[in-house]
Amino acid sequence: MEKRILTGDRPTGPLHLGHYVGSLQNRVRLQTEYDTYILIADVQALTDNFENPERLGANLLEVALDYLAVGIDPERSQIVVQSMVPELTELTIYFMNLVTVATLERNPTVKEEIKQRNFSKGVPVGFWSYPISQAADIAIFKAHLVPVGEDQLPMIEQAREIVRRFNRLYGRVLIEPRAMLGQVARLPGTDGNAKMSKSLGNCIYLGDPSETVRKRVMSMFTDPTRIHPTDPGHVEGNPVFTYHDVFNPDKAQVDDLKERYRQGTVGDVEVKQLLFEALEIFLAPIRERRAEYASKPGQVRELVIEGTRRGRAVAQATMDEVRAAMKLNYFG
Ligand code: TRP
Repeated sequence: MEKRILTGDRPTGPLHLGHYVGSLQNRVRLQTEYDTYILIADVQALTDNFENPERLGANLLEVALDYLAVGIDPERSQIVVQSMVPELTELTIYFMNLVTVATLERNPTVKEEIKQRNFSKGVPVGFWSYPISQAADIAIFKAHLVPVGEDQLPMIEQAREIVRRFNRLYGRVLIEPRAMLGQVARLPGTDGNAKMSKSLGNCIYLGDPSETVRKRVMSMFTDPTRIHPTDPGHVEGNPVFTYHDVFNPDKAQVDDLKERYRQGTVGDVEVKQLLFEALEIFLAPIRERRAEYASKPGQVRELVIEGTRRGRAVAQATMDEVRAAMKLNYFG
């Protein structure tokens, strides 16, 4: 069997540079080798958007456009809408028996997210237990590889544990997945926060127009200890240089800027201007493809419907095996 990839994103807004380096880049690179399924995880997004479910539908097409814009090839990769694959819900319920409450409570990513959200009426069970449904996402596709950002590692670990437990109890049906991190596990935000994140408002989105990108870059957080351009500056941990390392293909230029920055012979404005130019070169083909697909929303819709149909067929086949292994196939 060809090896599979399954990964996904919550449709809570457009995708940004952090998504790109954390996961999208790997998906595009690996789609030629792997049978690839990409889940638009609206059911997971519902766990903290249940009061405004209409938001998810509104973002669905945007996320699909971002995928196509970065080079996800609909001939090779299937874009699947999670809520349209009800088999996932069934597997989630079976998986709930294989996880303890204590394990869920220890999940560091969920803990962090709960802190950020301060749910006014307490933490909904759906949110707190979403790692179980994410394990079902991965397992139902029998994915070998899950390209994700660093914050998702606890989810993959949880999925591995559940799969091992399932296979031990019921027989070897499921595949134990491996995570694959991006070139940069975690891209800092433009404000210097360790993570680029929509809720922190420190993002550069893949669909941002030039002027927005320019403003974001020119107001980026740099080295707070450096007051004058003649002060020796810090390159390590400076997000402007982290971005240069990732997005500027002219390594000689980056090395030269670093050297001069350390010596205090280059100003922030020049370093940022060159980063902006590098980002523009990186974003240009993405913008172009995005505009092209955006002008044909009917075609994008069809691609997502077809991807979901194929994804669901995989999920149904796995569930037949799961039910048989669990001796739940009473009627044959
Ligand atoms: N939790 C992921 C995120 O917040 C989205 C996601 C849902 C996912 N199901 C998945 C990622 C399965 C990888 C595999 O971005």
